[in-house]
Amino acid sequence: MLRLCIFISLLMTAATAHASDFVGLVQSCEKCHGKDGNSTDPDVPIIAGFSYEGFLNTMEVFREDYRIALRYQKPGEPETVMNEIAKGLSDEEVRSLADYFSQRDFIPARQDVNSALAERGEVIHKKSCEKCHSDNGAHPVEDAAILAGQWTPYLRRQFDNFLSGKRWVPVTMLRRVRKLSEEDIEALLNFYSSKGMQER
Ligand code: HEC
Ligand code: HEC
Repeated sequence: MLRLCIFISLLMTAATAHASDFVGLVQSCEKCHGKDGNSTDPDVPIIAGFSYEGFLNTMEVFREDYRIALRYQKPGEPETVMNEIAKGLSDEEVRSLADYFSQRDFIPARQDVNSALAERGEVIHKKSCEKCHSDNGAHPVEDAAILAGQWTPYLRRQFDNFLSGKRWVPVTMLRRVRKLSEEDIEALLNFYSSKGMQER
C-alpha cells in the first residue's frame, strides 16, 4: 500500500511538473504575443485562433529557415528571433502549443481604417486572394494564416518579406503579390483591418 502511494505521488509530481513547464512555456510566448496570443503590440502578430495545421506549418517554416523572422526585443528582455525560438522547442512542445493556441479565440486588433482604400482592397481580395484566404481572410484555413483583424504594421512587413524572398509563400500567391502596386497593398491592408473592426 505504502509503495503504491509513493508510486502514485511520484506520478502526480511528474504530471504537475509537466503541466507547470507547459504553463511557463505558454507564458514565454505571451510575453511578446500577449495573453492567449492576442498581441497588443502592432509589430507582433496575433497567434490565437490559428488552425492547428497552420500553427505546426509556421513553426516548421521557422525551424527550416524558409521564413526569416524579425529580430525582436521587448524592453528589459534579451533580443531574440522566432527562428531560434522554434528550433529550441521539441516536437511535442510544438504540438502542445499548436493545440493550445488554436483553441484560443482570435480577438481582432482595433485599428484605424481608410474606408475608401478598404473598398478598393475588397475588390482585389475577392479577385486574387479569397480562393485561399476565405471569409475575407478571417478563416483560419489549413496552412494560411488569419488576415482579417491582424496587426497592419506586422502584415505590411510580411509583404516586404514575400517580395524580397525572406519568406517563402506558394508560387500562386507570390505571382499575385508581385502584380500589386504599393497602393494596392495599402488597400488590402485597410480591407483586412476593416474586417477586424466589424467583428468587434
Ligand atoms: C521576443 C518576442 C517573441 C517571443 C518570446 C515569441 N515570439 Fe513569436 N513572433 C514574434 C515576432 C516579432 C513575430 C513576427 C516575426 C516576423 O515579422 O517575421 C512572431 C511570429 C510568430 C508566429 C507567426 C505568426 C504568423 O502570423 O505567421 C508564430 C506562430 C509565433 N510567433 C509563435 C510563437 C510561440 C509559440 C512562442 C513561444 C514558444 C513565441 N512565438 C514567442 C515575437 C516573439
Ligand atoms: C494558393 C493559395 C494562396 C493565394 C492565392 C494567396 N495566398 Fe496568401 N498565403 C497562403 C499560404 C499557404 C500562406 C502561409 C505561407 C507560410 O507557410 O508562411 C499565406 C500567407 C499570407 C500572408 C501572411 C500572413 C501572416 O500572418 O503572416 C499574407 C499577408 C497573405 N498570405 C496575403 C495574401 C494576399 C494579399 C493574396 C492575394 C493577392 C494572397 N495571400 C493569395 C496561400 C495563398
